[in-house]
Amino acid sequence: MNTTRTQVAIVGAGPAGLTLAHLLHLEGIDSVVLEDRSREYVEARIRAGVLEQAIVDLLVEAGAGERLQREGLVHHGIELQFAGERHRIPLSDLAGGRAIVIYGQTEMVKDLIALRLATGGPLLFEVDNVSVHDLDTGRPVVRYRHDGREEELECDVIAGCDGFHGICRPSIPDGILSEFSREYPFGWLGILAAVAPSSDELVYAHNERGFALLSLRSPELSRLYVQCRPDDDVSEWPDDRVWEELQLRLGLDGWTLAEGPVLEKGVTGMRSYVCEPMRYGRLFIAGDAAHIVPPTGAKGLNLALHDVRVLAEALVDWFRSANPVGLDAYSDTCLRRVWRAEHFSWWMTQMLHRPEEQDAFDLKLQLSQLRYVTSSPAAATALAENYVGLTSL
Ligand code: APR
Ligand code: PHB
Repeated sequence: MNTTRTQVAIVGAGPAGLTLAHLLHLEGIDSVVLEDRSREYVEARIRAGVLEQAIVDLLVEAGAGERLQREGLVHHGIELQFAGERHRIPLSDLAGGRAIVIYGQTEMVKDLIALRLATGGPLLFEVDNVSVHDLDTGRPVVRYRHDGREEELECDVIAGCDGFHGICRPSIPDGILSEFSREYPFGWLGILAAVAPSSDELVYAHNERGFALLSLRSPELSRLYVQCRPDDDVSEWPDDRVWEELQLRLGLDGWTLAEGPVLEKGVTGMRSYVCEPMRYGRLFIAGDAAHIVPPTGAKGLNLALHDVRVLAEALVDWFRSANPVGLDAYSDTCLRRVWRAEHFSWWMTQMLHRPEEQDAFDLKLQLSQLRYVTSSPAAATALAENYVGLTSL
């Protein structure tokens, strides 16, 4: 077995792992990033696309936002559609001028990988059998296999950025974590289509046939979702059926949804999940490895980057001045924002989706809530400040 050493071993090259590696690099802290998929796979995976202002600022300040600033689309509002009408929520007016930026997670990951390689930091793809050990000692170890060789990576700290299905969280011994979760009886069938977006702003539509969302990736690329069953297979959703449902759910008199070739299609289940604490000994977990939100609030990617910002700052204090305060507070600090996002995402989800057997009372409550949010500045402000990202928590 070949043994090497680094300060921070990062498992997972998603947005969380790659951003953490870069933030640490800027502070002169060494890390090794281990990813079990190929670079091609990671760079092709279509994921989220809405960034909070604070996350854009973080990436720009870190020198990772050049293309984001050039190609990202700044949005100052979103639309909520129900009962045959669209209502604009003027996010920036309500939330102190802050906006959101539309930029695909896929593009962000490509930028971060290029930056990592340009700065010469180790980033290994297609590693197998990753396992983490000695977490409750001062010398944790990561073992993995790469290019047919067994490797051992000694480090000071392990960052578990390996997503919901990764190995870091399950490596924490039984009895340490408390887990909180909720499954929803909904899925989202998402498509990426080569057609100019039919609306300048995102449209979240409540409809008797189920929820639909019009989003985008660029002036030439639309991203659209329809509520489906969580266990639906994409084969049940030929392109014609997807467009038909989108037309029915998003349709309005005097407005047309333009259709185009479908480039990608997939079904996402919806769940809420949090584990506490987000630390065990020298293992710190971040992003989807520690928490999941349903996509309705567009918070998953943003939370992942908030986590690693907190972790990077804490690690800097610890490595530089042996100050453990930030690391000791890491989990509590992150969980305050995580639970706010959990509530917001749950709230958006239950307001906009149609359960298969919907109680008439529940439907009336949804419509009342939507009317309130779109007519009361106080209620609209609550939505807006959560959507663009709360600054103080
Ligand atoms: N070893 C190494 N890498 C692993 C392992 C493993 N055992 N298991 C998973 N990975 C990798 C995955 O292939 C993925 O590239 O870890 C990475 C985790 O990245 P993400 O799932 O993108 O999670 P995160 O970086 O926390 O970003 C959260 O991703 O799923 C979306 O909605 C979510 O937008 C949010 C964002
Ligand atoms: C997306 O563009 O992929 C997107 C936008 C808003 C959401 C979820 C996903 O709430």
